[in-house]
Amino acid sequence: MAIRNIREEGDPILKKVSREVEVIDDRVKELVEDMFETMHKADGLGLAAVQVGILKRIVVIDLYDGVSKFVLINPKITEVRGEKIPFEEGCLSFPNQFAKVERYNEVTVEALDINGDKIKIEAKEVLAQCIQHECDHLDGIVFKEKMIPGTLEVITQEDIEKSKEKK
Ligand code: NI
Repeated sequence: MAIRNIREEGDPILKKVSREVEVIDDRVKELVEDMFETMHKADGLGLAAVQVGILKRIVVIDLYDGVSKFVLINPKITEVRGEKIPFEEGCLSFPNQFAKVERYNEVTVEALDINGDKIKIEAKEVLAQCIQHECDHLDGIVFKEKMIPGTLEVITQEDIEKSKEKK
């Protein structure tokens, strides 16, 4: 296992469309392990393979609640329900930037798991939001392209120091 380098804003790879995974071989399994490790170290809720420079349709998600931890290979959102609502979002490729993005509150996603078995997840709220954000990455779309205008907040190093002082 290894921590991989997270590609950040301005890196052209983030705008590229990822390719379907055809075979889940040892290289894919190693990539998935590395993606989890990289995401956990950065305290992220989700990470797409493109964010570590690999154009494969693979997403990892962990909401740190003990149950919502998934790898989604070739994910497809097959159903959305209800209205779109604004969610506060950030992204490991855009450190210290947050904005509101409208997402469906409920989605169904179908994908393959690490064993190549088909899985179907009916997701709500943060999990649904996270799945939509990560699936966008696979099509070269980043949250800042979808944000509600005027909602971008940039946290500076100074703000971080201040919040540390308060604690
Ligand atoms: Ni992201």
